Amino acid sequence: IFKASVFSVVGFWGWLTWRVYKETNPGEQLPQSPLKENGNKRKNIVILGSGWGAISYLSKLDTTQYNVTIVSPRNYFLFTPLLPSVPSGTIDSRSICDPVRTIARATPGEVRYMEAQAIDIDPEARCIQLEHNSERFSVGDAFINDNEPIRATIDYDYLIYAVGATVNTFGIPGIPENASFLKESNDATAIRQKLFNSIEAARLLPKDSSERKRLMNFVVCGGGPTGVELAAEIQDYIDQDLCKFIPGIEKEMKVTLIEALPNVLASFHPRLIEYTKSIFKEQGLDLLANTRVQSVDKRNVYATLKKSDGTTEDVVVPYGTLVWAGGNTQRPITKRLASKILEQRTARRGLLVDDYLKLDGDDHIFALGDCTFTTNPPTAQVAHQQGHFLAEYFNKLAKLDDLEYSLSKDTDQSQKYDSKIERVKQSMLPFKYRHQGSLAYIGTERAVADLSWGSWSTVALGGSLTFLFWRTAYVSMMLGMRNKILVMTDWLKVAIFGRDCSKES
Ligand code: FAD
Ligand code: NAI
Repeated sequence: IFKASVFSVVGFWGWLTWRVYKETNPGEQLPQSPLKENGNKRKNIVILGSGWGAISYLSKLDTTQYNVTIVSPRNYFLFTPLLPSVPSGTIDSRSICDPVRTIARATPGEVRYMEAQAIDIDPEARCIQLEHNSERFSVGDAFINDNEPIRATIDYDYLIYAVGATVNTFGIPGIPENASFLKESNDATAIRQKLFNSIEAARLLPKDSSERKRLMNFVVCGGGPTGVELAAEIQDYIDQDLCKFIPGIEKEMKVTLIEALPNVLASFHPRLIEYTKSIFKEQGLDLLANTRVQSVDKRNVYATLKKSDGTTEDVVVPYGTLVWAGGNTQRPITKRLASKILEQRTARRGLLVDDYLKLDGDDHIFALGDCTFTTNPPTAQVAHQQGHFLAEYFNKLAKLDDLEYSLSKDTDQSQKYDSKIERVKQSMLPFKYRHQGSLAYIGTERAVADLSWGSWSTVALGGSLTFLFWRTAYVSMMLGMRNKILVMTDWLKVAIFGRDCSKES
C-alpha cells in the first residue's frame, strides 16, 4: 500500500508538472501561408466569438490545415458555470478567464486573433465588417483615434459563427436602466459593487427606516439556473461571511427570487425542484413563484402574482440591488445575418442549421451554440460538443479537399482517389448531442444533479455529496491547468479565510 501510494503521488505530481510545463511553454507553430505543402490552397477560416462554441472548436481543429483567424470583442474565454460564484467573492473573476491568445498559441498552426466585433456580414461576398470600439485606440505613444471606432473588413472561405446570445428583457420597462445582468465577468463585478453600495448606504439610515429595508433587499428576477445559483451564493455570503464583519446583517438583509412560473429550475426533475425549495426555506431565501415582473423603476419591482384560484394580485418588491436573469435572446448581428438569407427568414429564435451545423441557405457559414435554434438547450454542454464535432468535421473536410485536389492533378489515378474520397465522406457523420446531465448549486454547500447515462438511465441527486461532485465536474470541465489550479486555490482560500468584504471581487 505504501509503495502504491508513493507511486500515485509521484505519478500525479509528475503529470501535473508536465501539463503545466506544456501549457506555459508552447511549441513552434506552422506559420500561415496561402498554399499547403502539396500546392493546394489553404482555406481561410474566420471564427466569430471566444465563448464555449468557438473555443471548443478551436481547441480540436487541426490549425495546420487552414489559415485561422478568431475575432471577438472579448479577448478571453469565460468559464460561465462558475460566474454566479464571482459576485460573492467565492471565485475571483480572473480565475475563470482564459486569454484567447494563450489558447490560440497552444494550437499546432498559427492562429491570428483580432479584438473586434462583427457588425455586418455579407454572405454573397463572403466578407465581414469589423469594428474595434475602444474609445481611445493607440499605436505606440500616438493616439490615432479619440472617439471614432476603427473599422476593417476580413474575407473568409468558411465562417464559424459562434457569437452566443444576449439577455432577453422582453421589453419590460425599466430593466435595462436599473437592473444588472449576469452574463459577462464585468457584470459580476458590477453586482458586487452595487451590493456593497446598498449595504453601506443602508447603514447610515435608522434601523426602522423603510429606505434601509429597501436597500437591504437583494432581488433576483428569473428562477432559471442563473438566478437560482446567484441567489444561493449571495445568501451563503450573507450567512457565512458578511455576518462576521457586519454583525446582525443576516437578520436585516433579504434575498428575494422572483419567478413567473410555479417553480424554479423548471427543467430539473420534480424531486430536485422540491428539494431546492426546501433548502431555500431553510436558508430564509424569499421565493416569489407565479410572480411575473411587469416593470421596474429605480426603487421597486412591480409584478403580478397569479394565485391558485386563478385571480391575480399586484405585488411591489422594493430593492437595493436588482439582477435580471430572465433568459436569452438573439444578438442584433444574428438577426441581421438571418435577414440576408432567404432560408433564415423564419429564424426568430436563432439561426437554422442542418445536422452538420451548416447554415440553412449558405454553404460557407457554420453556426453553433446559443445563436442557433435546434432541439438542444442553449447550454455550454451543447456548444462544447458542437465545437468538437465541427472541428472533427473540418479536419476531415481538409483531407477531402486535399484528395480532390490530388485527383484534379492526377486524373489517371481517379479510381484510387475516388475510393479514398468515398471513405472520408462516409466517416463524416451528422452531429448527435449526448446529454450528460444538469447541475446547479443551491446554497449551503448543496447542489442538485440530473444525471443521465445514455437514453436509458437518469438519476436525480441533491445534497452535500452532490456539491462535491458539482465542484469536481466543473474543475474537470475547465480547459486549462492554470484555471483549474486558480479555481481550486480560490476554494481553498475561502475555506481557510472566508470570503472577504472588499468591494472589488
Ligand atoms: P458564448 O459562450 O456566450 O460566447 C459568445 C462569444 O461571442 C463571446 O466571446 C462574445 O464576446 C462573442 N461575440 C459577441 N458578439 C460578437 C460579435 N458581434 N462579433 C464577434 N464576437 C462576438 N451552461 C451549462 O451547460 N452549464 C452551466 O453550468 C452553465 N452555467 C451558466 C452560468 C451563467 C451565469 C450563464 C450566463 C450561462 C451559463 N451556461 C451554462 C450557459 C452557457 O454559458 C452558454 O450556453 C454558452 O456560453 C453558449 O456558448 P456560445 O459559444 O454559444 O456563446
Ligand atoms: P432561463 O431561460 O433558463 O430562465 C429564465 C427564467 O426567468 C425562467 O424560469 C422564466 O420563467 C423567468 N422569467 C422570464 N420572464 C420573467 C418575468 N417577467 N418575471 C419573472 N420571471 C421571469 O435563463 P438562465 O437561467 O439565464 O439560463 C440560460 C441558459 O443557460 C439555460 O439554457 C440554462 O440551462 C443555462 N444555464 C445552465 C446552468 C447550469 O446548468 N447550472 C447555469 C446557468 C445557465
